[in-house]
Amino acid sequence: MKSNDGTESAKRRAGESAADRVRDGEVVGLGTGSTAAHAIRSLGRAVDGGLDIRGVPTSYQSRALAREVGIPLTTLEEATPDVAIDGADAAAPLGSGDATTDGFDTAEGTVLVKGGGAAHAREKVVDAAADRLLVVVDESKLAATPDHPVPVEVLPDATPTVRARIADLGGEPTLRAAERKDGPVVTDNGNLVLDCAFGPIEDAGTTARRLEAIPGVVAHGLFVDLADELHVGTPDGVAVHEY
Ligand code: 5RP
Repeated sequence: MKSNDGTESAKRRAGESAADRVRDGEVVGLGTGSTAAHAIRSLGRAVDGGLDIRGVPTSYQSRALAREVGIPLTTLEEATPDVAIDGADAAAPLGSGDATTDGFDTAEGTVLVKGGGAAHAREKVVDAAADRLLVVVDESKLAATPDHPVPVEVLPDATPTVRARIADLGGEPTLRAAERKDGPVVTDNGNLVLDCAFGPIEDAGTTARRLEAIPGVVAHGLFVDLADELHVGTPDGVAVHEY
């Protein structure tokens, strides 16, 4: 586990808070990562207790966990998610605002940086398809301005040209290396990931559009104004911000 016990408890509170918002009969997008995993486990317990839902996984990891905890699965071909629950590597208020509860309450929405688990391409498809996206984080993910490196999934053959275009945009791309495997991370879609350091991103919408316009980019990790609710796990509770 990559976090300490206090952070893990905060992640669990956030995940369970979002899972509590899922209603009987809903189709649920199942995000990836340790915080979303708490939501999936909570939904599994609810299914054991009689909740009737179907899950749309966003990765190999979330599919395996959903199966383990007994959530029936479906696909985007068969159903549109009513709600999706997903984590983030960073969350910042859209427009003016700071990283406090007040800052997130008065914001127009959120800017998320996702893709720490290299699942952001499928996450974006499922999260954007859902009627409601509930994002689950602990307080360590909050920022006034997003400055976390942006993961960019690229077609392997396009890596050199995408690298050059990202450098032209002022980013510093680093090919994500695998752990316990020689060479790069290969995504669930068979692609590679460039982690692109831009420093503080003041205009996430413009950066997102510029990244999308690069041939060979499959998906980037900026999720601008997609979240409907942000569930922030704290040391003693959960703060929920709605947009
Ligand atoms: C995976 C993601 C995750 O949601 C993000 O990395 C957060 O993970 P965690 O909840 O483990 O901190 O975007 O691609």
